[in-house]
Amino acid sequence: MRWLVEWGEVMGARRLVHCHNTHVLLPTPNLVARGASPRTLEAFADGLKEACRHPVAEHCLATVHTLFVTLDELDVPENNPDQVRLQREIAEMAVRAGYLTTFTCAPYLVGNVPLMGEICAWTESSAVVYANSILGARTTRHGNESAIAASLLGVVPEFGVLLDENRRGTLRVEVAAELRHPSDWGALGYFTGRLAGLGIPVFENLRRPSQEEAKQLCAALATSGGVTMCHIVGATPEALSLEAAFQGRVPRERVVFTDQALRETYEALRNATGDELDAVILGCPHASLRELAQVARRLEGRRVAPGVRLWINAARATRCAADAMGLTQIIEAAGGRILCDTCPTNMRIPCRRLVSDGFKQAHYARGMTGAEVIVANTEACLRAALAGRWQGDA
Ligand code: F3S
Repeated sequence: MRWLVEWGEVMGARRLVHCHNTHVLLPTPNLVARGASPRTLEAFADGLKEACRHPVAEHCLATVHTLFVTLDELDVPENNPDQVRLQREIAEMAVRAGYLTTFTCAPYLVGNVPLMGEICAWTESSAVVYANSILGARTTRHGNESAIAASLLGVVPEFGVLLDENRRGTLRVEVAAELRHPSDWGALGYFTGRLAGLGIPVFENLRRPSQEEAKQLCAALATSGGVTMCHIVGATPEALSLEAAFQGRVPRERVVFTDQALRETYEALRNATGDELDAVILGCPHASLRELAQVARRLEGRRVAPGVRLWINAARATRCAADAMGLTQIIEAAGGRILCDTCPTNMRIPCRRLVSDGFKQAHYARGMTGAEVIVANTEACLRAALAGRWQGDA
C-alpha cells in the first residue's frame, strides 16, 4: 500500500481507485545473458516468492507477462537450468496465490479482455496501448512492483489515462498510405511513436483494424515512443469522431503518413549488410491462433532452410489450441518452432542477422543483442526462412 500511495503522490494522484484486472511480471533475472550471479538470482527469486505468498485480491483477474526463459526444453545456454528451476517454483506459487500464469505479452489473446472503462494495472507497454486504445479499458504503464501491489490490494492510484481529461488526443495523424499487411500497421506505429513521444496520437482515415493489425500498431507506438494510448477514429470505443478523440479541440495541423513514409519506416530500421540469415522471428507481440494457422498453411509440405531458426512466439494457451488443430505439428515438421513463455529478445539469444515481421522485435533485437535486422511482412519473412536468404519484399 505504501508503494502505491507514494507512487500516486509523485504522479499527482488524488485518490486510490478500485482495480480488478492486472497483468504482472514475475520473471527471474536473465542469468546468462545479463551476467547475473547465482546469488543475485536467488535473492531476486526470493522477492518474487515473498510476493507470491500473499493471495491475489478477491475479484481481481491477474494474468502474468512473459519470462526470460521458456519452461519447455530448449537447448541454448540462455535457458539456464537453475533459472528455469526457480522460475518453475515461482510459477507454482503464483498459481496458488491466484495468478493465471499465462506468460504472455498479449494477455488479450488468452482470456484477459477488459471491458470499456475497466480500471486495470498492466505491465507490457504494447498491451497497455492495446487495452486503452482498442478495448477502451484504462491502465497506466505499470512495472513489477506496482502491478503486484495492485493485484494484492485491488487498488491503483488514479492519474494519467485513468482520468477522462488525460485521454484527449495530442497529435493528429492522417493515414494516406495503403496498409496491406499487419506489419504495415507496425510501420505506422513506429513512424508515429517517434513524433508522439508521451502524447496521444489520433489516427484519421484508418479503417477498423484486425486483432493482428492492432497488435502491431500498439506495439510499435510504444517502441519508438512512450505512447500509452492512441485513438483510431471510428474504432477506439470512446473516439467515434475526430471531435470526440480531441475532446472538442481538434487541431488544424496534422502529420500525413504517406506510402513513401511507409517504405522509409521499414528501411530506417533495417541495417543488414548481407542476405544470409540465421533467424526468422515471428509473433511479436505473441502470435494469435489465426497467425499460427496462416504460418502452418504456408509451411505445409515445405522445409525451413538448414541453419535458420524459424521461431514463432506465442502464449502456451495459444499453442495448446494449435496442438489440438494439428498446426504445431505442421510447423515443426517444416523445421519451425513455437516458442512459449518468452521470446528470443527477452532471452537475449545472440543472433547475427534476423528477419522479423514485428517492428518491436526488430528494434530490440538490434539494440539489445546487436543483431543485424530486416523488418518485413510475414509472407516475405517466411519466404526468407524457406530460402535461407533474404529474398526481398515483393
Ligand atoms: Fe512480446 Fe518479446 Fe515482443 S515479450 S512484445 S514478443 S519483444
